Amino acid sequence: MSEDDDLLRRRFRVMGKHSPLFYDRPLHLVRGEGVFVYDQKGRAYLDVYNNVPCVGHCHPRVVEAIARQAARLNIHTRYLNDLIVDYAERLTATFDDPLDAVMFTCSGTESNELALRLARFLTGGQGIIVSDFTYHGNSETLAALTSCFPTPEPFPPYARAIPIPDPARDKRPLSELADIYAGHVRDAVRSLQADGVKMAALLIDSFFANEGLPAPVPGFVKKAVEIVREAGGVYICDEVQAGFARTGGAMWGHQLTKTTPDIVTLGKPMGNGHPLAGVVTRIDSVDAFGAAANYFNTFGGNPVSAAAGLAVLDVIKDERLLENSRRVGEHVRQGLERLKAKHSIIDNVRGRGLFFGLELVKGDAQASPATAEAKRLINIMRDKGVLISRIGRHDNILKMRPPLVFSTDHADMLLAGLDEALASL
Ligand SMILES: Cc1ncc(COP(=O)(O)O)c(C=O)c1O
Repeated sequence: MSEDDDLLRRRFRVMGKHSPLFYDRPLHLVRGEGVFVYDQKGRAYLDVYNNVPCVGHCHPRVVEAIARQAARLNIHTRYLNDLIVDYAERLTATFDDPLDAVMFTCSGTESNELALRLARFLTGGQGIIVSDFTYHGNSETLAALTSCFPTPEPFPPYARAIPIPDPARDKRPLSELADIYAGHVRDAVRSLQADGVKMAALLIDSFFANEGLPAPVPGFVKKAVEIVREAGGVYICDEVQAGFARTGGAMWGHQLTKTTPDIVTLGKPMGNGHPLAGVVTRIDSVDAFGAAANYFNTFGGNPVSAAAGLAVLDVIKDERLLENSRRVGEHVRQGLERLKAKHSIIDNVRGRGLFFGLELVKGDAQASPATAEAKRLINIMRDKGVLISRIGRHDNILKMRPPLVFSTDHADMLLAGLDEALASL
């Protein structure tokens, strides 16, 4: 039995055999640096999947900030501490008016759970609208709203699921899609009202990442939010995946839709791997909710987390990572378009900035999803030393979302690997 087989056996025994693992041959990773991770034999893998280490694996400034503060003081937020307030100020300054306050949590799930509590408190309603292929977290409420994989919790009677426009699949004129899909939001609101459920929130991902990164339909989000607000609800924007400069066009995905949310939820990249997350909203909302709910989170926003969060913001600024996302993202996109012209299995190129996808389809008249091929491809890429994944309703969209320090050289490695892997399918 190899060392990995033994580790796998021990893991199944103590963590269960359904605790998810990537790839047919799971990777045993021991170290990371920049955009590379290394296995126990010292083999390097180009990481084109992990957005959590957004400024690069083990970035020295983040590591040093965590170590310095951990050696000095770590305490919860019920004491005065400069770093926590500095971080709250620096973070909220990256948002548009009137988003000027933050409540800290430790995960994307906690952020979305808190956002729903806040929305229900502010509106007095219970009704929630989500997309019909989504994931916002693993709490009981969020698991019930999950549709991109099965969960034991039934979809709740106070919620409705709406389809999200995907211009690559819905061939009706692009100019009509915003109204058509806003119509689904209107139907959902009416259906809740008919059941006597008052609107609380529309909860959507600014980039529709789990939905498969469809190209944005101009005006859709704006119209959807107007309908929800008219019905007394608020707009919660999940930036857990798309936030922190990933899109290359703005620090926050929602800024590209020109519709400012009432509540924004943050997580994954916020601490570069340190469990730091939060909910950004208006100070009057935080004050009203705080007075009623006495919100407190033992680990959320502690000084070590704040030090990590500050270092992440510093690196994004000093290393010009927003600009890098835009520039390198454009380079990747052009390369992916060239691959599309060469490999007929590629139906369309998706995403922007350093978050991109390739939809793979079969050569039949219906362009049916090439699900098995996508699975094979990510395993071939893994064997070549390039880590990617797949998403979407049919799991046929390659998902690529590297740390933001990805360079054009790294991009060329990815493109060369994809070219070979596609040719070998
Ligand atoms: C869009 C989105 N929101 C929320 C979450 C939940 O975040 P966490 O795993 O930190 O609880 C995820 C996790 O994948 C996500 O993709």
